[in-house]
Amino acid sequence: MNIGILTSGGDGPGLNAVIRGAVRKGIRAYGYGFTGIRDGWRGLLENDTYPLHMVDVRGLSGRGGTILGTSRTHPYSQGGPERMREVMVENQIDAVIAIGGEGTLAGAARLADDEGLPVVGVPKTIDNDLDNTDYTFGFDTAQSIATESIDRLRTTAESHHRCMIVEVMGRNVGWIALQAGMASGAHAILLPEFPVTYDQIYAWVRSAWDRGRAPIVVVAEGFAPEGMDTQVSDRGLDIHGRVRLGGIADHLAPLIEEHTGIETRATVLGHLQRGGSPTAYDRVLATRLGMAAVDIVRDRQWGKMASLTGTDITRVGMAEAVDQLKLVPQHRWDEVKILLG
Ligand code: F6P
Repeated sequence: MNIGILTSGGDGPGLNAVIRGAVRKGIRAYGYGFTGIRDGWRGLLENDTYPLHMVDVRGLSGRGGTILGTSRTHPYSQGGPERMREVMVENQIDAVIAIGGEGTLAGAARLADDEGLPVVGVPKTIDNDLDNTDYTFGFDTAQSIATESIDRLRTTAESHHRCMIVEVMGRNVGWIALQAGMASGAHAILLPEFPVTYDQIYAWVRSAWDRGRAPIVVVAEGFAPEGMDTQVSDRGLDIHGRVRLGGIADHLAPLIEEHTGIETRATVLGHLQRGGSPTAYDRVLATRLGMAAVDIVRDRQWGKMASLTGTDITRVGMAEAVDQLKLVPQHRWDEVKILLG
């Protein structure tokens, strides 16, 4: 058996650990061969591949990024499944492990379920928005980086008697904001799932200020306040079907300053949350998922992905995992709300 591996979509800490886990398990347990596919589906469509040996994955569990490179190339572009079949035959690739987020897994599910291609998946996203898996690797690293950054912003905010607003990633969901906001003791946490009014935000900021604190506001990039002018954005629709606002922290900072009289600074953490070394939790999860993906290939369960259920690695259909986004649930919002202000 020769297995092709690709990483597709946005990168995330832990991708290299998946590759290492899969290659080591495949070679040691089953004597399989491996082919690295460069830059996601692009490599499979353009025949850009190379043999992956044990030595290529040495020391990879703690290294950020992906040694295979990644791209957002759509699997149905450039000849699509037919072209992939040709490239797989040419390189004697018997199965493909696709590591990626919602878009990648949706494409992989179609290739397996509709085209009959031997593809299995490993879920990856720092956003933690994939259904049918409890956590995705990369998320723990992102929430840790965000928490540390907020802690650092707090000391400068206190020195200058300022309000700090910190924008974190998450695309359409608020998992990073919720966790980092809770971990760092933020005074306002703004999630796309639970829009609040501008007045509520000002009230939380003022309440912290009145107790002598430097107010900390953590906002998910997909958040939009209730009553926002939706014409100001061209970034697509949010989970409520409204037009998304780009640069929410920069939008809110001057308004907070104007309505509370407190000097306010905005910080957008951006791709810092995706770069660098994964946490121990993400390394272990990613390694286990990579190893499990090889077992799914061994069992020829095309269309399935390795998943985390509690503390166990399980198997689920990729199509089910991308059916709907995993949103922050009401009870997590109710739980954190009492801590705000
Ligand atoms: O899905 C991961 C993610 O980092 C989101 O949180 C963010 O909205 C997006 O990717 C950024 O994508 P890009 O790297 O293409 O700018």
